Amino acid sequence: MTEPLIYLNNAATTWPKPPEVLKAAADVFSSPFYEHGRTTVKDAPDYIGTTRQTVADFFGVSSPEHIIFTSSATDSLNLLIHGFAKRYGKPFHAITTDLEHNSVLRPLRTLEREGKCSLSIIRTTDPHVKPEEIGEIMTDDTALVVIGHGSNVLGSVQDIEPIGNLVRSSGVFFLVDGAQTAGQYPAKPGKLPVDAFVFTGHKSLFGLPGTGGFYIRSPEQVDPIRQGGTGVDSASQYQPEELPLKFEPGTPNYPGIAALDAGTGFVERRGVDTILSHSRTMTSYLVKALGEIDGVRLYNSSPDIPVLTFTVKGMESEDIGFILWKAYRIVVRTGLHCSPLIHERINASGGVRISLSCMNTIEECEATVAAVEEIAATI
Ligand SMILES: Cc1ncc(COP(=O)(O)O)c(C=O)c1O
Repeated sequence: MTEPLIYLNNAATTWPKPPEVLKAAADVFSSPFYEHGRTTVKDAPDYIGTTRQTVADFFGVSSPEHIIFTSSATDSLNLLIHGFAKRYGKPFHAITTDLEHNSVLRPLRTLEREGKCSLSIIRTTDPHVKPEEIGEIMTDDTALVVIGHGSNVLGSVQDIEPIGNLVRSSGVFFLVDGAQTAGQYPAKPGKLPVDAFVFTGHKSLFGLPGTGGFYIRSPEQVDPIRQGGTGVDSASQYQPEELPLKFEPGTPNYPGIAALDAGTGFVERRGVDTILSHSRTMTSYLVKALGEIDGVRLYNSSPDIPVLTFTVKGMESEDIGFILWKAYRIVVRTGLHCSPLIHERINASGGVRISLSCMNTIEECEATVAAVEEIAATI
């Protein structure tokens, strides 16, 4: 598509990607993939090792092998949640919140249905979870707490440090879903009290879909749920125990991982603080301007990351999304955004979500407000 458009669906996946990201992926195809460490070509580029170091530096992780690559945040969360349960080996109590994405809720619900865990879901009253809300429901059987760092509906970012200190002081595994924050909100999981931190490649790290990963502090707490070739220790019929091979069987996504290196480099050069400050300028403008439109109801007026959810009185959110695209070439997301419980809490069966990246401009925000104003005036 070459016609001009305004893309405001960056919480789903960022667009456009920086040119260097596209080039990095394309460059991988200019020679055979030469699996580093497995190939006979001794000077083959080490896409995976290079990216692992870049991502480790970005996340403040001193041992790069503790960064594991997967195909997405969803893949990482499945691997960690099911792998933790497998290793734990007996039923346990798990805690999460109603702010979470289905990629947290569904693996936990699946474990619950299989009788492997009992699950408590904190019904939040404020989009910022308080450590005491977790502390109050922890029992001697609690073994796992899973919290999203940034909400993909309300844009709230949790204060990981006090929550992690509380949870981990009882020896409970603390897993953080950083899919919405990595790349647009400061987060150095290597220096935070977390046991594992999940990231995705294709959102604010500006990589391609099909990439993601996690940081794990103590890998002995999680069993691998996938086994296969590693190009190392091939005589053994068992998965190697050492990192990162323990969790990375099979041929990696070379173009995607090279692109992730370039995307992370792009974010690093631009600076997460600069990115955040640009997004806050645009978000503050949108909150004020949308809030002044008759009939518009905003569900979050002070998000920490640039995600805004609203409805227009008398209109279905799907219809607003349709008109925004058809009449104004503005791309948003409508519906439940894969986080069904928080919609119950805010009493909205769906919403229009605007989510920005550092590629957006204030002029695009102004054009969007003008469009919503026109749409709301038709009711
Ligand atoms: C909070 C949150 N967690 C997890 C995911 C899943 O990310 P991925 O697309 O990498 O599987 C998303 C994606 O929308 C998300 O918003």
